[in-house]
Amino acid sequence: MPIIIKSDEEIAIMRHAGSVVARTLRRLVEELRPGLVVKELDKIVRREFDKHKVIPTFLGYHGYPATVCVSVNDEIVHGIPGRRVIEDGDVVSLDLGCTYEGFVADSALTVIVGAPKPGTERLVDVTRESLDEGIRQARPGNRLGAISHAIQTYVESRGFGVVREYVGHGVGRQMHEEPQVPNYGPPDRGPLLKKGMVLALEPMVTMGDWRTRQMEDNWTVKTVDGSLAAHFEHTIAITDGEARVLTVP
Ligand code: MF3
Ligand code: CO
Repeated sequence: MPIIIKSDEEIAIMRHAGSVVARTLRRLVEELRPGLVVKELDKIVRREFDKHKVIPTFLGYHGYPATVCVSVNDEIVHGIPGRRVIEDGDVVSLDLGCTYEGFVADSALTVIVGAPKPGTERLVDVTRESLDEGIRQARPGNRLGAISHAIQTYVESRGFGVVREYVGHGVGRQMHEEPQVPNYGPPDRGPLLKKGMVLALEPMVTMGDWRTRQMEDNWTVKTVDGSLAAHFEHTIAITDGEARVLTVP
């Protein structure tokens, strides 16, 4: 499958989807507090998406049973919102996507609930900043690898690990399109970036070893060594100049 170039009109549609995702994520962050049962977040997303007349992209994706992924502490990605209760100091990653007029927007963020445990604020800051570094490299003239390399360099120089087994991706009519966007690797590898490409960049960063394992629920991905993890994701469009972030309010 080739990389699908989007028209300005299609990007405008994705921008609307991105706005709904960003505003809903903001709403979920406002709800997070010790004592919250995680499943409640899924209910909020269903209500918000109904209101905005968008489709929850994750629900039913390869059988995924919820609208949002909630990954806590040593969970990296794909946590299913269930009966778990949020505790003070939890590192909570929220990953959300919606489909509007046939186009998908995908975004994730990590927050600390209540009083941060040692090192967790830095983990979250470095992960968010590594996404910014990747976005900065997302422009014509660069290869895709420039994004990957910038993220890896930023994360590892600050002493954290960057996950290898899960990667960013092209996004459009499908949540996962070509190309894959690894968060590691040399800068001169991969396709040349072109105006109209839309990519979901999503660094997943760990305080210790970056190796992962999947839980018995066949979804939740944790660090092998039990170290805490953070995850930030934006859907961005390549333009003639700086990339345009679509998943903002
Ligand atoms: N945002 C995730 C990704 O980019 C998708 C979550 S998987 C799902 O791959 F099953 F929850 F949809
Ligand atoms: Co994604």
